[in-house]
Amino acid sequence: MLVLGIETTCDETAAAVVERASDGSGKILSNIVRSQTDEHARFGGVVPEIAARAHVDLLDGIIDSAVKEAGVGFAQLSAVAAAAGPGLIGGVIVGLTTAKAIAMVHDTPLIAVNHLEAHALTPRLTCALAFPYCLFLASGGHTQIVAVLGVGKYVRLGTTQDDAIGEAFDKTAKLLGLSYPGGPDVEREAKNGDAQRFILPRPMLGRPEADFSLSGLKTALRVEAEKVAPLSDQDVADLCAAFQQAVVDVVMDRLHAGLRLFREQFGGPTALVVAGGVAVNQSIRRALNRVAIDQGTVLVAPPPELCTDNGAMIAWAGCERLALGLTDTLDVAPRARWALDPAFAR
Ligand code: KG4
Ligand code: ZN
Repeated sequence: MLVLGIETTCDETAAAVVERASDGSGKILSNIVRSQTDEHARFGGVVPEIAARAHVDLLDGIIDSAVKEAGVGFAQLSAVAAAAGPGLIGGVIVGLTTAKAIAMVHDTPLIAVNHLEAHALTPRLTCALAFPYCLFLASGGHTQIVAVLGVGKYVRLGTTQDDAIGEAFDKTAKLLGLSYPGGPDVEREAKNGDAQRFILPRPMLGRPEADFSLSGLKTALRVEAEKVAPLSDQDVADLCAAFQQAVVDVVMDRLHAGLRLFREQFGGPTALVVAGGVAVNQSIRRALNRVAIDQGTVLVAPPPELCTDNGAMIAWAGCERLALGLTDTLDVAPRARWALDPAFAR
């Protein structure tokens, strides 16, 4: 089967065509991502209205390129899949409405994909990973530990009570006068810093549940920065190193808790999977590798371009759902909030 996937939930406009063979293996035929980072950088974060307008401007051309690059026509598609949430509602409406138009014109099934489900199923595209596995999703908008038991079967083991990890990196960068998005700059600065000079808290450490809390860490960092202001280059590097080390310690502790919960409820996972932009951070990746080994499993990290938002993951989630006969009607609604685990649906 051939599925077109459309992603517009945040600040990436993306489309891809993915093929799923009858043995369940997947192949990416095209995967085009246009990041709007430059448009949002001067505001220090994603501006929803700018994002929605940019999706309107860019999406048709990107879909056209994705289909051409894959060498297929719309008539050959088995289905069209779009991320229908969770995300910034203006962008979600653009992607889902476009998918509906394609589905209607070409008389093709429509699949409304949960963006989080698409992140969760990506390792089945990249390395045919078997269920059940433990997913750590860490991006600018999400921080979750999820038991992935099957297509449509997700149990949330932990989440953040306030800021997402990527958001904490972005706010730290803004506070220290670094650029947006903050993760890459904070990681680079941290390499030249002394992580011991400033003492920052490790929120939630040792708790049996697998939740996160990051806003206190950010506040503590502000207090330390104010004590030594105006900041020298070395101050900035030391503060970044202290922040990153605190995040690494928290992530390791919370993932140990998450994997313990997983084991108690579902037995051993086939892997610990990491996804989201934060997964690009090498210190965090090394820490997760250690956690996985300590817990008797392996770390699976999709390549960076499939960890961050993209159309291939939406197309692949569409393939997995279509294979089970799960399609949607044209009146399916876009959703700003959409919990993976029905126990947390609001
Ligand atoms: O998954 P993603 O590309 O987009 C969404 O948020 O949906 O993640 C972006 C986030 C940003 O908050 C960015 O600062 C963070 O991932 N990030 C990093 C690094 N690279 C990107 N965080 C820490 N270290 C990095 N190297
Ligand atoms: Zn995402």
